Amino acid sequence: MVNILKFYRTIFLICIMAVVFSLGGCDATSRHKVLTTIFDGVPSQIPPEEVLEEYYANRRQAELDAAAGLVPADGETVGRHVSRHLPYTEKKCKDCHDFSSAVGLIRPPRELCFVCHRDFRDYILEPYVHGPVAVGDCSACHLPHSSENTSLLELDRNKICDKCHHEERLAAAMHDKVMSHGMACVDCHDAHYSQARYFLK
Ligand code: HEC
Ligand code: HEC
Ligand code: HEC
Ligand code: HEC
Ligand code: HEC
Repeated sequence: MVNILKFYRTIFLICIMAVVFSLGGCDATSRHKVLTTIFDGVPSQIPPEEVLEEYYANRRQAELDAAAGLVPADGETVGRHVSRHLPYTEKKCKDCHDFSSAVGLIRPPRELCFVCHRDFRDYILEPYVHGPVAVGDCSACHLPHSSENTSLLELDRNKICDKCHHEERLAAAMHDKVMSHGMACVDCHDAHYSQARYFLK
């Protein structure tokens, strides 16, 4: 009796392992087939055209970066820096740093960027100014030296808004629709300020 139980348990374990292997050891499409056969409610796969779209968008970007001399032509992309701050590349460290002071900067962090980006100081008087910009917190989105993203952004321009905005949109249906078409928030909204409400461009 005990032996029969053991036998069934072994068969059961082999079945489980077979499923696990078939899930792990194959491509996304077969894995998806196995999953949908076993379970209900597995979300449908992304249509191939969309996968290709993303692939070509990435490839186009890589080609543009290489053309701009930002990435070595051999396609080495590890730790690449897409944007560099001019005073940093020109090694004008002391334009920002005072290594003898406790903060290590010539001005408090929330004033530093305005020393050179004077236009921003004036633009803050625009009728609609974005919260973090209004208080001079440029570092909420930008890095001071260089970045793997465009415009010295800490995150990709498609992801930077997600860092803070998780709240439900009032115009949720409209946003869901445009976002599903692959638009970026900054295609419509200015990240800094605007003459129009919601910093619309
Ligand atoms: C545009 C202004 C600016 C320039 C130019 C600049 N830095 Fe910085 N640096 C900053 C800011 C802002 C920080 C972040 C300070 C903080 O978060 O406390 C920083 C941080 C640092 C740090 C602390 C470690 C780190 O990476 O966060 C070092 C070290 C440093 N900088 C060295 C340099 C050197 C060397 C140069 C010149 C090649 C340079 N910086 C040029 C603004 C600048
Ligand atoms: C010492 C002067 C100086 C200071 C201080 C300074 N910047 Fe700049 N910044 C520049 C110059 C010069 C450029 C290049 C402008 C151009 O190309 O027209 C630039 C460009 C930029 C860009 C555009 C980069 C790109 O690739 O498009 C960003 C973003 C930026 N700065 C953010 C900041 C932030 C954030 C701070 C504060 C931490 C800061 N800057 C402080 C001089 C400065
Ligand atoms: C909420 C995030 C956020 C904050 C805070 C922010 N920026 Fe930006 N900034 C962006 C984004 C996003 C872009 C790129 C826009 C694009 O790709 O169309 C950008 C672009 C820039 C550029 C490149 C030229 C331009 O105007 O598009 C400069 C210069 C710049 N920022 C300076 C600043 C300064 C100075 C501050 C602080 C006063 C600041 N930013 C605060 C998100 C931010
Ligand atoms: C560092 C955090 C932070 C990031 C990153 C950020 N925001 Fe904001 N945003 C705020 C704060 C704080 C407010 C002010 C909230 C309020 O007044 O209720 C705000 C307000 C707004 C508003 C006005 C909302 C209203 O009801 O008036 C818009 C539009 C907006 N953000 C768009 C963006 C976009 C687009 C991006 C990406 C480029 C972005 N934000 C990135 C912090 C952020
Ligand atoms: C196709 C253009 C477009 C894109 C892309 C877009 N928005 Fe908007 N957004 C608008 C318009 C138009 C309004 C004003 C809606 C209204 O008046 O009710 C708005 C309103 C807002 C508001 C304030 C009112 C609300 O609905 O909550 C915030 C915050 C906001 N957008 C954030 C974002 C963020 C974050 C993204 C990216 C995830 C984004 N938007 C992408 C056009 C856009």
